[in-house]
Amino acid sequence: MTTFILKVFRGMPGKQYWEEFQFKRRFGANVISALMEIQKNPINRLGEATTPVAWESNCLEEVCGSCSMLINGRPRQACTALIEPIIEKTGSEIITVAPFTKFPLVRDLVVDRTVMFENLKKVQAWVEVDSYHEEGYGPLISPEKQEVMYSLATCMTCGCCSEACPQVNDHSPFMGPAPIGQVRLFSIHPTARVKHAERIQVMQTDAGVGSCGNAQNCVKVCPKNVPLTDAIASVGRDTTLQAIHDLFGLPERNP
Ligand code: SF4
Ligand code: SF4
Ligand code: FES
Repeated sequence: MTTFILKVFRGMPGKQYWEEFQFKRRFGANVISALMEIQKNPINRLGEATTPVAWESNCLEEVCGSCSMLINGRPRQACTALIEPIIEKTGSEIITVAPFTKFPLVRDLVVDRTVMFENLKKVQAWVEVDSYHEEGYGPLISPEKQEVMYSLATCMTCGCCSEACPQVNDHSPFMGPAPIGQVRLFSIHPTARVKHAERIQVMQTDAGVGSCGNAQNCVKVCPKNVPLTDAIASVGRDTTLQAIHDLFGLPERNP
């Protein structure tokens, strides 16, 4: 085998089709470099002139999440999808690439992931500051907590977890696991947690943690190994405790 075939599921909403492109195999090539080859020379496997395939990418080092797509059916980043290991693993010279299905299709491999960023706004995934004047050092955070916070903070809002989650679908308002990870992160942060009760209120809605079916697909596909199931369990406990506090009219909980 000296060549490989990139089979691209492309097109516009309601009009998608497969198109194949053939390349020489070369060391170090990845899915993005193959897409760039098509951009330079948009000729398909049948030798027909076609339009370049549209895709998104930015960092090219699995940090921004923008190149996320289905590669051989699995959600992952195209920039770190090296051709040779994929062919070795599958034993096939055909690699399929397709856009995510849980987000609105824009064109070819580009989807609109705005909903993920809107969900981050809903859970106030930031550290609130009330001024910018010098206030000295913030509260100390133990190394153990820092470690957990760091792993949660590596989320790049790529959408792989939502793509794999059976509970994220057209019939469900569930916001998916990534924002739940951020609720967990900011519940640990000593300054950010002043907003914890407000975040938990969002988690108590149909969009929140109660809609998770615990299938654990999310954690299996997360490229950053974000501890999503731990976060879901912890935020789930917090929503239950908050509900008990609300039931008995107790004051707001501080995690
Ligand atoms: S939790 Fe993982 S899979 Fe989900 S958006 Fe963040 S980095 Fe991507
Ligand atoms: S545990 Fe399952 S249902 Fe819950 S967010 Fe992860 S994939 Fe979705
Ligand atoms: S281009 Fe940023 S993750 Fe692939």
